[in-house]
Amino acid sequence: MRISVFGCGYLGAVHAACMTKLGHDVVGVDVVEDHVAALARGEAPFFEPGLEDLLVEGVGTGRLEFTTDPQRAADATVHFVCVGTPQKRGEKAADLRYIWSATENLLPLLKPGDVVVGKSTVPVGTAEELAERVAAVQPEAEVVWNPEFLREGFAVQDTLHPDRFVYGLGDAESGRRAAATLDEVYAEALAAGTPKIETDLATAQLVKVAANSFLATKISFINAMAELCEATGADVTALADAIGHDSRIGRKFLNAGVGFGGGCLPKDIRAFMARAGELGVDQALSFLREVDSINLRRRVRMVDLAREVCGGSIVGRRIAVLGAAFKPNSDDIRDSPALNVAAQMQLQGAQVTVTDPKAIDNASKAWPDLAFEATVEDAVRDADAVLLLTEWPEYVALDPVDLATHVTGPRIIDGRNALDPVVWRSAGWTYRALGRP
Ligand code: UGA
Repeated sequence: MRISVFGCGYLGAVHAACMTKLGHDVVGVDVVEDHVAALARGEAPFFEPGLEDLLVEGVGTGRLEFTTDPQRAADATVHFVCVGTPQKRGEKAADLRYIWSATENLLPLLKPGDVVVGKSTVPVGTAEELAERVAAVQPEAEVVWNPEFLREGFAVQDTLHPDRFVYGLGDAESGRRAAATLDEVYAEALAAGTPKIETDLATAQLVKVAANSFLATKISFINAMAELCEATGADVTALADAIGHDSRIGRKFLNAGVGFGGGCLPKDIRAFMARAGELGVDQALSFLREVDSINLRRRVRMVDLAREVCGGSIVGRRIAVLGAAFKPNSDDIRDSPALNVAAQMQLQGAQVTVTDPKAIDNASKAWPDLAFEATVEDAVRDADAVLLLTEWPEYVALDPVDLATHVTGPRIIDGRNALDPVVWRSAGWTYRALGRP
C-alpha cells in the first residue's frame, strides 16, 4: 500500500520505517528540515535501537522517502497522523497545534476512499473534530483512531509486534471499509494472531490515556509504598516482589525509585485531568493529581538523601550523577527525573557532574549549567557521593571495588533500586536507596 506518515518524531519515524519493513511504500512528512534531511539519508535523529538499520534498508530500497512537501503524500491511500501533542506552556492541557497544522496540509490531498489514521495521543474529542474537518472537504474519506502503545527503547519491536491493535471507528458502514483498509496495512501482525479491538472513536482515544494513566498510577503506588517503607524500615523491593507474585497485580511497573519521566506519562496524566475538567468529570481523575505529586516528591526526596549522605549539606560537595536519559536505552531527556535531580542539587550549591551513554548531547544543550563527562570514571572522579538515576545496564554492572578507587567518599544512592546493596556495602560503600533500609 502507499502510505503517508505526518510527523516524523519518535512515533512517526519509527512507524514510517516499520511500515516499509512490512512491505508498504511510505512517505514521511515533517516540517523540520534538518530532521527530514537526516531521515532521508537513513540516519536516525535520535537513539532508538534497531531504527537506523530499518531506515537504511527502507531508504535503500526506494520505498521509504522523507520530505517537507506534503504534496508527496497525494497518492497515498492511508495517512497516519503521528505528530506530537506536548503539554501547553503553563497549563496542564495538551497543545494540539501540530495536529491541526498537519490536518491543514492533509485535507487538500484527500481522495474518495482515503483513510486518515490518528496515532498521536490526544484529548478525547479530537478525533471527532478531525472527522468533521475531513468530512467537510472529502465526505468519502474516513477517520480511524488507532492509538500507538510503543515504548521508547523498544519502539521497533513494539511497532512490528504490538500486543494489541485498537481501531476507533466512525459511522458503521464507512467505518467497516476503513477498518478493512487498516487490516491490509497490519496484515502480517493480524495473521500472527495479534488481538484487535474495534470500538468507537471516543473509546479508542481514551484507551491510550487510560493505559498511560494506569502505568503512572502503578509506579506512583509503589513509590508511595516506598515512603511507607522509609518510615518503617521495610524494603520496597521485597514488597514489590511479594505483591507482584499475585498475577492480578503483576510485578511489571512496580520498580520504586526516582519515578517516571519522559515525553508521555507525565504530560498525558496532566492532559487527561485537564480534559476531564472540561468534560465536568474532574473528580473522576483527581487521584491522578496525587499520582503526579507522589512522583515529583521522589525527586525532592532524592536530593534530601544526597544531603543526608553528605553529612547534612551538599554545598560545595562534588556529586556524580549516573544517567541523564529519562530511562535506559534512550537519549530522550524530556522531563527526565535524573536531570531534574541533578539541576536541583546544582541550584542548591553542589558541584554536579552528569554522565550518560547516549544522552549527553541532548542534556548539555538543555542544561548548559551542569557539567558533563563522557565516562563514568571522569564523572565520579573525587566525588563525595554518586547517584544512580538511570539504570543503564553498564551502570548496574559497575564494579564497586574499582569505582571506589576513583571517588573521595564511597557513598552511593541507588535511585532506581537496581544495585545489590550487599555487594556494594561489602566493597566499602555507604549504600542508600529510596524505600530500602
Ligand atoms: C510509555 C508507555 O509505557 C507506552 O506504552 C506508551 O506508548 C508511551 O508511553 C507513549 O505514550 O508513547 P515510555 O514513555 O517510552 O512509554 O516509557 P516507559 O517505559 O513507560 O517508562 C516511563 C517512565 O517510568 C520512565 O522514566 C521509567 O524509568 C519509569 N518507570 C517505569 C519506573 O519508575 N518504574 C517502573 O517500574 C517502570
